[in-house]
Amino acid sequence: MGKNRKISSITKPISNTIDATKRGGFSSSMGFILAATGSAVGLGNIWKFPYVAGQSGGGVFFIFYLVFTLLIGVPILIAEMTLGRKTRQNPVGAYRKLDKRFTFAGGIGVACAFVVLSFYSVIGGWVFNYLITYGKNLLNTIAIAEPVQFYNEFISSSLAPVTGHLVFMLLTCLIVLGGVSAGIEKTSKILLPALFVLIIAVVVRSVTLPDAWKGLSYLFIPDWSSITSTTKLLEIVLSAMGQVFFTLSIGAGTMITYGSYLTKETNIVKAACMIPLLDTLVAVLAGMAILPAVFSFGLNPGEGPGLLFVTLPTVFNQMPFGSIFGFIFFLLVLVAAVTSSVSLLEVVVSFGIDTLKLKRKTSSVLCALAIALLGVITALSFGAMSSFRPLGLSMFDLINQLADKLLMPLGGIFICVFSGWVLGVDDIILEINRGGVKPFTHKKLLSFSLRYIAPVCILMILVSSLFGLS
Ligand code: TRP
Repeated sequence: MGKNRKISSITKPISNTIDATKRGGFSSSMGFILAATGSAVGLGNIWKFPYVAGQSGGGVFFIFYLVFTLLIGVPILIAEMTLGRKTRQNPVGAYRKLDKRFTFAGGIGVACAFVVLSFYSVIGGWVFNYLITYGKNLLNTIAIAEPVQFYNEFISSSLAPVTGHLVFMLLTCLIVLGGVSAGIEKTSKILLPALFVLIIAVVVRSVTLPDAWKGLSYLFIPDWSSITSTTKLLEIVLSAMGQVFFTLSIGAGTMITYGSYLTKETNIVKAACMIPLLDTLVAVLAGMAILPAVFSFGLNPGEGPGLLFVTLPTVFNQMPFGSIFGFIFFLLVLVAAVTSSVSLLEVVVSFGIDTLKLKRKTSSVLCALAIALLGVITALSFGAMSSFRPLGLSMFDLINQLADKLLMPLGGIFICVFSGWVLGVDDIILEINRGGVKPFTHKKLLSFSLRYIAPVCILMILVSSLFGLS
């Protein structure tokens, strides 16, 4: 299929020099790996992973998560980055440049980034509020005396969640306004290691609490007997795959967009392996920080989105200098979240710049405003607007599920079908090998994953979630 197209894309030099300078780009491979890891490591690891694992059976979930990361995550990361670098375009422009019939697939990515950011920044706003609370109580031994009550009162209020969400969007917008800046690269370089150190400190406290082993065994030892029905199994498989997409920032065109700012010297395959590795490490550490504490304090691991906001304050209350710890920790969670939200906004903004021909400033402001507006409804969905339940779900659940169960898997299927069948793995490999990196030797494996394994897995999940089997 597409023989002519293949030949023409091999022989035709990719005219990206002018584009690249105008659009900006990463200064080095290291800068890219840091920024892409910054995109991947975020609330998905620290907030979502522990609570989804807690809701979905711990160890069994974790095994599916690892399997999907290898089978689906790595190949899609490779495909997205190569597509971006090859075309130097946002997702819509990228697909359109290679095959007009697939322009809509890029549209799904942009829509997905839009929707995800609208609720991501709501959680970012929660983190911001917790940070302020710890900041105000730095010198008090205990900042949040009744974490459960504090959390419930906080999310059902209006002013604080909305303000937090808007501040978070403003922060994200300011960074994106500055372009693909050395600023993000530099901050990631300092703050990612700092995040590691702090999480490890919390892990140490958490695993030395009484009964902590229960939490660890919940996370690492799969209890297959907990799968009592096919529905339950499907539910776990579905959340594991949703988590892989979310945490690796795939399916929403983020990595196409970041790939479009890549230099040709960057080793895409190496990046596609490093990112999941670091990302999983942070997720596991977050799980080890939170789940042992949950069991130790007799909390419920299936608590849901509030888990981080209830459990960690409980742990901080038990630590010397807990408030200072809490402050620094939430600051780092905020930073991790911002380096991710920037990548989401960048997808939508780059669509405005490349395709709608807007200036970066105009595009950044307009996109951020539109996303902020949708987010306000989500921010109020536990409080003032809790009776607004489209399709019988709270706005928060609706948006969360729309992205997790529909848009991201759809985006994933199209990237696989497109790169595996339409463009062809040969072209992907050609792009990987550009710039004199070590030639790629796993063509069969990549081809098999992109053409069969990944799309079939995603399709099964998509069908089961569409037909409400789980
Ligand atoms: N991966 C980020 C996290 O774990 C969030 C994120 C960034 C994302 N870009 C994305 C999620 C694209 C889905 C799609 O917090």
